[in-house]
Amino acid sequence: MSPGIATLAETPIAAGELRLEPLRPDHAGPLFDGLADPALYHFIPQEPPADVVALRARFERLAARRSPAGDQAWLNWAVRLPDDSHAGLVEATVGTGGAADIAYFIFRRCQGRGIGRRAVGAVVEALAAEPAVTAIGASIDTRNAASIALVEALGFERTGLIRGADHFKGAASDEVRYQLPLRR
Ligand SMILES: CC(C)(COP(=O)(O)OP(=O)(O)OC[C@H]1O[C@@H](n2cnc3c(N)ncnc32)[C@H](O)[C@@H]1OP(=O)(O)O)[C@@H](O)C(=O)NCCC(=O)NCCS
Repeated sequence: MSPGIATLAETPIAAGELRLEPLRPDHAGPLFDGLADPALYHFIPQEPPADVVALRARFERLAARRSPAGDQAWLNWAVRLPDDSHAGLVEATVGTGGAADIAYFIFRRCQGRGIGRRAVGAVVEALAAEPAVTAIGASIDTRNAASIALVEALGFERTGLIRGADHFKGAASDEVRYQLPLRR
């Protein structure tokens, strides 16, 4: 992992009144209820965490900031509101060549208020400012209108469509690929 990416992984990010905190194991408690909502997982293969212990174990792995093989950097931020409650999670995985892939969850009670756009936008901006990051992309199920609207609002461009990219929860998943043109 490049020193710049390692530093970014530990850096809190301000996004207007939102605060993005580098994910720690002790975020499992405050994030569990929001992340346990099955509605967040309709268009992704992942399942909600079984319990807070399982979520904490996952966050402990993520707090290493890198995959066990060392070929991916794991950057994750918990999204915090001005009243100190949490609103979700933004994730970026950066491969050895510097290509970043993003994913994100905004809890249902916080959706539709521009929080995703601001939080994901701030992470994307931080990634784009890091010279070791060579590309920023996202793969999104074609049924996921909110996620597609979010990346398009941030300036991502559609670069491909993979029919039958996956199969989960009883249905085939077609995926659109988005990339952010990096203007450097
Ligand atoms: C995708 C997600 C993060 C959006 O979070 P959010 O805070 O509600 O998003 P915002 O309020 O910032 O809205 C972002 C854009 O999406 C649009 N949008 C929001 N919900 C929408 C919906 N259900 N359908 C269509 N567009 C929607 C908004 O109008 C906005 O577009 P605009 O800026 O052009 O007006 C949230 O719906 C979520 O967590 N979904 C479940 C997890 C998931 O699918 N993650 C993505 C995996 S690829």
